[in-house]
Amino acid sequence: MPAQPLPAEITIVVPCYNEAANVAPMVERLGAALSGIAWEVVFVDDDSPDGTAAQVRKLAAMDPRVRGIRRIGRRGLASAVTEGVLSSSAAHVAVIDGDLQHDETILPAMLAAVRDGGADVAVGSRHTEGGEAGGGFSTGRARVSDAGTRLAALLLPTPVSDPMSGFFLMPRPLFETIAPRLSARGFKILLDVLLSAGRPLRVSEVPYHFRPRVAGESKLDATVLLEFVGLLMDKALGGWLPWRFISFAAVGAVGLLVHLAVLFLASRVSGLEFEGAQWIATFAAMTANFLLNNRITYRDLRLRGPRLVRGLVLFYAVCGIGAVANVGIAGLLVNERLAGWGLAGAAGALLTVVWNYAVSSTLIWR
Ligand code: GDD
Ligand code: MN
Repeated sequence: MPAQPLPAEITIVVPCYNEAANVAPMVERLGAALSGIAWEVVFVDDDSPDGTAAQVRKLAAMDPRVRGIRRIGRRGLASAVTEGVLSSSAAHVAVIDGDLQHDETILPAMLAAVRDGGADVAVGSRHTEGGEAGGGFSTGRARVSDAGTRLAALLLPTPVSDPMSGFFLMPRPLFETIAPRLSARGFKILLDVLLSAGRPLRVSEVPYHFRPRVAGESKLDATVLLEFVGLLMDKALGGWLPWRFISFAAVGAVGLLVHLAVLFLASRVSGLEFEGAQWIATFAAMTANFLLNNRITYRDLRLRGPRLVRGLVLFYAVCGIGAVANVGIAGLLVNERLAGWGLAGAAGALLTVVWNYAVSSTLIWR
């Protein structure tokens, strides 16, 4: 049992989803790596079904350096990290993955780079001299990661070899000033911090070897990539168009393709009349839109089970009203000779997207 600790000089924030088996080894490794430094650790768990939170609580009952935040009904690495950091009152915060892939033994060097070295942020880097990504990534994943790094470099004010890293350390007050401007979406919290700081941050990179995951599995999937693109767009546009709206509109465009494909199939293949085929296509497109929005646009608020069914029914109703408004407005513009067919149609469609988005965001996914 450790002695009563000093107020922590550094809070280690560990986002966790289904990492129950990795919690105890993490605390043990932090203890070994940070001897001589007053530290605490905060595990931020999104109500993992594998009992991660219970595991954290068990350790916290024995060790006052261990804390946990358990979030219910929400998912998301970036927002979990943000909440963990904002729960700290230490001078410094570090963020490290909970799956033991990041090398905690470089934490003292990262702390020194910020405390004595004058850097704003210390980044654990796989790509700088002496770093190594090979062990932890498949080749496909490594290629995607490289492409993302190059894309991100276009927006970054200062070159950073591994801006996609989830392993970094910075003064807690600095994070707090940036926090209100963060997009806080998806996986790329460090990139978000670098792009939201409002000035070029001085970055010091500390090399490490990315380890293979031993227990549990990666939560990174294809939709995480979309969120990454969303983050970059959000920052590139200066935040004036919310990423959620862009995503909603893009899903709507996909829905249009679904509509046309189903319409074609239903009329050509099954020989239905236009009206019948149009009904089938409309419902197919609305259903596809709903499911895609649930997976992508509102991933962090994803509906499941009975709430999914309720949401779908509501979505049909919202889209139905949107369609009536669309036809009404476009018809008015044409009848009053305020616009030709093309412009009137576009205005009606735009109105519908804004309406559908606004009502979906307040009534269905909230
Ligand atoms: N609370 C919470 N909520 N934690 C999460 C969530 C979530 O929705 N999703 C993932 N995590 C936790 C995992 O439990 C793990 O501790 C850490 O975040 C990283 O997730 P992994 O699923 O292991 O990600 P990875 O190994 O594929 O990706 C890592 O490398 C990337 C480099 O390209 C991460 O460090 C990324 O941040 C990094 O960008
Ligand atoms: Mn991992």
